[in-house]
Amino acid sequence: MALKITVIGTGYLGATHAAAMAELGYEVLGLDVLPEKIEMLRRGEVPMYEPGLEELLRRHVAGIEGSTGRLRFTTSYEEVGAFGDVHFVCVNTPQKHGEYACDMSYVESAFDALAPHLTRPALVVGKSTVPVGSAARLAERLAAHAPAGADVELAWNPEFLREGFAVQDTLHPDRIVVGVTGERAEALLREVYTTPVAEGAPFVVTDYPTAELVKTSANSFLATKISFINAMAEVCEAAGADVAKLAEAIGYDERIGKKFLRAGIGFGGGCLPKDLRAFMARAGELGVDQALTFLREIDSINMRRRGHMVEMARDAVGGGFLGKRVAVLGATFKPDSDDVRDSPALNVAGQIHLQGGQVTVYDPKGMANARRLFPTLGYADSALDAVHGADVVLHLTEWREFRDLDPAKLAEVASERRILDGRNALDAALWRKAGWTYRAMGRPSA
Ligand code: UDX
Repeated sequence: MALKITVIGTGYLGATHAAAMAELGYEVLGLDVLPEKIEMLRRGEVPMYEPGLEELLRRHVAGIEGSTGRLRFTTSYEEVGAFGDVHFVCVNTPQKHGEYACDMSYVESAFDALAPHLTRPALVVGKSTVPVGSAARLAERLAAHAPAGADVELAWNPEFLREGFAVQDTLHPDRIVVGVTGERAEALLREVYTTPVAEGAPFVVTDYPTAELVKTSANSFLATKISFINAMAEVCEAAGADVAKLAEAIGYDERIGKKFLRAGIGFGGGCLPKDLRAFMARAGELGVDQALTFLREIDSINMRRRGHMVEMARDAVGGGFLGKRVAVLGATFKPDSDDVRDSPALNVAGQIHLQGGQVTVYDPKGMANARRLFPTLGYADSALDAVHGADVVLHLTEWREFRDLDPAKLAEVASERRILDGRNALDAALWRKAGWTYRAMGRPSA
């Protein structure tokens, strides 16, 4: 009989994973502790903007006309325990307030709530990003509290999906990594992923701590690449060199590669910043903090980028923001997402606002979240409206919509034709042709 799957936590990771498992043909039960979220999902609505996810979900959610009915949702752990052979735990692990360490309370609550209902053989699979050593500890907790005892096993199966590409990355991952303690768990996970998902994808089997570390080290490496090129951007600016050309040229070396070498205002979001901070905190606990001191530098290069963009904007408006209008294009931490968590764009907008600038933000999908987080900023309904009367325009999130803007049209409504490209993504020649002074980070002025 086909395995029955449950997914605990229906945020980015969980909602996508649940829909993808249904797409692969499994009967899936998704759980969240927030009843309003469950109600939305039952109606086939996704609580965040993620390309393709709503369509995928609606293809499978029970009760939606024409759906396969394979995907259902609940708030009951009892139901989850009775239903599933394999339970994926997908709850989030945010940064603790005022600390580097990550907050494990959601993971711990999920395990504590699930364990007493594991009355029959089951595999619990952790997908959340956790400090190394967590899986071993959680396995002990399961063993102590699950009525089925040794028939309940734990595996750790980190997830590498990117926001904006969540569906594609889940259905076509570039690798599957599983940390297990026995052959039975490995066999079950091979069975779960024996579908188009795993086709061609390397299946890496290892122990718990290695699986946990694969995720945090991968994110640290990606962050390092971005901060490396941003450090080069600082040097390029001082030396009159062009960081975009430099990135292109070093990227032809396959050992370096072209990806993740776009200089700009740096990384943000719900993963990279908090994962590298949690990684440093954990290294400290393990007595190897020296091994990761370089990550502190990666973090500070990244944070410096935001300040540098504020300085560039201040210079552009003549040395002070008082009485100046600043148009901000972009609020989300990256395009194709409505996520504003630790968004460099909003951080820059907020700093300028605090320094007396009159900021107007426009973002294609992030407006509602931005308004909630930064209610005192000004907002506009379109890029054109945001730019109206602006003394300087800041391009801070590289949405396609902004690349498609007509600089000549914007030139008619702006007070001053000055644009700063914080993502090195606009066509400089096009903007200059329309009469704009275009400046990008780490590149010569003209
Ligand atoms: C990241 C990892 O890529 C993913 O594997 C992991 O599962 C979760 O964390 P995500 O947070 O969705 O995914 O964003 P990502 O595409 O990695 O971008 C992170 C940030 O880096 C964004 O703010 C982006 O604008 C910035 N970035 C990325 C750069 O500044 N330059 C680049 O060259 C690439």
